[in-house]
Amino acid sequence: MTKLTVAISKGRLQADALDLLQRAGLKLPIESLSTRRLAIEDESGRYRLIFVKPTDVAVYVEHGVADCGIVGRDVLLESEPDLLQPLALNIGLCRIVVAARSEADWNQFGMLRVATKYPRIAARHYGARGVAVDLIELSGSVELAPVLGLADCIVDLVETGRTLRENGLCIVEVIAESSARLVVNRASYQLKAEAIGELISSVDEASKRSEQ
Ligand code: PRP
Repeated sequence: MTKLTVAISKGRLQADALDLLQRAGLKLPIESLSTRRLAIEDESGRYRLIFVKPTDVAVYVEHGVADCGIVGRDVLLESEPDLLQPLALNIGLCRIVVAARSEADWNQFGMLRVATKYPRIAARHYGARGVAVDLIELSGSVELAPVLGLADCIVDLVETGRTLRENGLCIVEVIAESSARLVVNRASYQLKAEAIGELISSVDEASKRSEQ
């Protein structure tokens, strides 16, 4: 029996990813959502799930420690890992946007200061327009930066829009739409072709069923 290791993004995507895998036929222990264990097996013993930070999903899959993973397109756009992306899933829907204070007093003269946890996405976005920016890299709570005067705007992820609203920011521009992707290690795709093919088609079916 071929065993597959699947890396799942901890956090906002975790519950929907587990729900999707269950609908795709994985028999997960009832406590999988609440457990603090970072690795669990499904009842068939065919799948081991590991729970890691979103940015680390791509690292585990690229290095072949995990055969597959479920991770947001935002993370993949930022880290550009060398792995396969056979499926776009209808979970983790969000957008990567430029946002600023509603009453922003744009500094017309100095260089635009952009706070973000997506420095490569931001650099590509402004680079494509030939706009020089001062990128300020943060690791979270990015919305605070324009409020406290650290930056003129942010490049960040928006899901419900609540964080922007509650911090007096609004969307200036949408850079990209994002949703979760099923990603696969290149070598596993060849060496475990049958098991991975089965997982891809059952996840695809489950994902499409929930669209109807
Ligand atoms: C993300 C993102 C926004 C927020 C958007 O942060 O960076 O801050 O979620 O979600 P919303 O539109 O539904 O309000 P996350 O919760 O991952 O935490 P972080 O700020 O610590 O990165």
